[in-house]
Amino acid sequence: MKSAYFILAFCLLALASPLAYASDPSSLQDFCVAIDDHKDGVFVNGKFCKDPKLAKAEDFYYSGLNIPRNTSNPVGSTVTPVNVAQIPGLNTLGISLVRIDYGPNGGLNPPHTHPRATEILVVVEGTLYVGFVTSNTDNRLITKVLYPGDVFVFPIGLIHFQFNVGKTKAVAFAGLSSQNPGVITIANAVFGPNPSINPDILVKAFQLDKNVVKKLQSKFWWANN
Ligand SMILES: *[C@@H]1O[C@H](CO)[C@@H](O)[C@H](O)[C@H]1NC(C)=O
Repeated sequence: MKSAYFILAFCLLALASPLAYASDPSSLQDFCVAIDDHKDGVFVNGKFCKDPKLAKAEDFYYSGLNIPRNTSNPVGSTVTPVNVAQIPGLNTLGISLVRIDYGPNGGLNPPHTHPRATEILVVVEGTLYVGFVTSNTDNRLITKVLYPGDVFVFPIGLIHFQFNVGKTKAVAFAGLSSQNPGVITIANAVFGPNPSINPDILVKAFQLDKNVVKKLQSKFWWANN
C-alpha cells in the first residue's frame, strides 16, 4: 500500500516537473499593486506596445553619451542612465546602459545595488578601485583596480561601488541586464528615507550611539543617478 502511494506520488511529480521549470517573469518595476479597473492604472513600466508598423529609428535611439558630466557634487560622481525611460524601444528587451563620470582624487559611486540587473562595466579613462560584497553566506569583499580597457562584473543584487583612485577624472560605461535596473544607494536608503527609520532600529542594527544615528539622519544624502 505504502509503495502504491509512493509510485502515485512519483508519477504526479514527474507530470508536474515540466511546470516546475516555469516561473514568473522578473519584475519590471519595484511593485505593481493589482487593480480590477485599468482606468486608474499607472504604467510605470511594462508599458503598452506601440503598433510595430509605426516604430521609427528614434524609438531605438539616444544621443549625448559622449558628453562628460558634471561631478561637482558631494560624492564626486554622476551616473547618466540610458534605459527604457530614455529609449522606449528598450521595453521588454532586458538590457540598458549607463555612463559614469568620476571626479579626480576620490570621485565615488557609493555602495549601492541594482535589484533587477547584473552589471558589466568597462573603464575608458582613469583608474578605479571597484568591488562588491557577497551575500550573508560569507559577506566576502571582492575588489580590483581597473585601468582603461578593463572590464568588471557586478552580480545582480550585490552591494558594489567604484572609487576613483587616480589623480585625473575617470569615465566608465556599463551594460545592465534590465530595461529598468533600479538603484538602491545603501546610505541614502538607510539614513535618508522619508519618513525616517526609527533611530532605535539603526542604533541596534549598526551598533551606533543614538546621537551618531541622529547626526547621520540629519545629513543630506546626494543621489548621483
Ligand atoms: C558643475 O556643478 C557645480 C555645482 O552645481 C556648478 O557650480 C558648476 O558651475 C558646474 N560646472 C560646469 C562646468 O557646469
